[in-house]
Amino acid sequence: MKKIVTYVSIASFLLIFTELGCSKSSTSTPAPTNPCAGVTITVTGTTTPTSTPTASNGSIAATASGSAGLTFSLNGGTAQASGTFTGLAAGSYTITAKNSSGCSGTQSFTVTSTPCPAITVTATVTQTASPVATTGSIAAIGAGSTGFTYNINGGAFQASGTFSNLGVGSYTITAKDALGCTGSNSFTVTAAGCATITLTSTPTNTSGPTATNGSIVASATGGLAPYTYSKDGGASFQASGTFNNLATGTYPVVAKDFNGCLSNTASTTVAFTCPTITANASTTNTIKCETNNGMITITASGSSGFMYNLNGGTFQPSNIFTGLGAANYTFSARDGNGCTQSGNTTVSQAPAGSLFLAVKAVLATNCAIPGCHLSPAPQNGLDFTDDCTIVGQGLRIKARAVDANPSQMPPTGPPLSAGDKQKIVDWINAGGKHNN
Ligand code: HEM
Repeated sequence: MKKIVTYVSIASFLLIFTELGCSKSSTSTPAPTNPCAGVTITVTGTTTPTSTPTASNGSIAATASGSAGLTFSLNGGTAQASGTFTGLAAGSYTITAKNSSGCSGTQSFTVTSTPCPAITVTATVTQTASPVATTGSIAAIGAGSTGFTYNINGGAFQASGTFSNLGVGSYTITAKDALGCTGSNSFTVTAAGCATITLTSTPTNTSGPTATNGSIVASATGGLAPYTYSKDGGASFQASGTFNNLATGTYPVVAKDFNGCLSNTASTTVAFTCPTITANASTTNTIKCETNNGMITITASGSSGFMYNLNGGTFQPSNIFTGLGAANYTFSARDGNGCTQSGNTTVSQAPAGSLFLAVKAVLATNCAIPGCHLSPAPQNGLDFTDDCTIVGQGLRIKARAVDANPSQMPPTGPPLSAGDKQKIVDWINAGGKHNN
């Protein structure tokens, strides 16, 4: 007996010892304190827009509160003492203010840009002494802004707007203002001694926004035939005045005579004219109690390469859309050149079929007793006032009320009449669906 008590004491001692050791170790390591607890660093500031859309001279002047000794960084970059960041392009920036303990606050800023003014270029053009001389010049003046420099045909900018030693040809002068905003215009240097050459240029539109079947027919008069024609402002010439296979766009058409004398530049725009597209849709009803099975078939004519979509969705090569529920639909047919024709159509729910309605009536009549399958307390959870329950149970209804011998449904009372059984058989044989 004494020995047992001793054992108990030792066990108690071990238990106490263990608990003491456990509690000692848990208090010896203090929980780390969060230096940022209760510290809220708030960043505010103002932005200065860039002077043009492309200039990198916007700035953000940020200040922060909530802690001392804060440094600032832009988009996670190098930290600095000042909250001002300059030389910024238009865009979004995040500024982070951080104290010596690493606690931080951030704020997003958007540097906007100032739009360019409309810059126009006019010029006084001096003819060359002859068709082959390079004594022409263009003295251009920019307007709409200040501090202009000028270039010719995309070359280096210079302070003067006058370009000399030019041969016969078409030249583009660009004026750039002090902020980097530009405006351009094209000028034609003609030759002295040249007769006036008059150009007419007639476009034929493409058959769609992406088609390349536009054309231009140009014809020159005056000067000395034969003429050559250019649709790129004089960069290259061809003998024919007809340009085919053109995409939409504006073409600077110019003619040159045998002496190298240039006509006026006719800025000729090839636009697009879509063909008349007809698009119709035929629909197939969706059947109640089935997975959506409505269908739309689109028929398009008047062009080629058609693709089709429904309700503004992705265009597809097939003109048939299946699996549709009862609803209104917008359909479109798009031809190979991007011309579209749209219309509206409706997929309806097929009405209940006469054979189905006859069976529904049989169930209603023969079930008009307590304990049967009509709501509010339908037997077995099968509510035969619900159309889709009837459709779903069609084969079982036939099995229980028609095929079983003796008939199992109704379970009590007389079986269904031969006529009622036949109605069930006829409906199942026709497909057993809601619209049969
Ligand atoms: C127009 C006549 C009726 C038809 C076509 C019919 C059909 C059915 C069907 C299809 C089921 C589901 C079970 C299975 O899949 O086999 C069922 C179950 C059941 N029905 Fe009917 N029923 C009819 C009338 C009645 C009536 C009048 C009662 C009782 C007053 C009744 C009581 C039950 C009961 C208790 C069940 C669950 C137990 C079982 O399956 O036997 N039924 N019935």
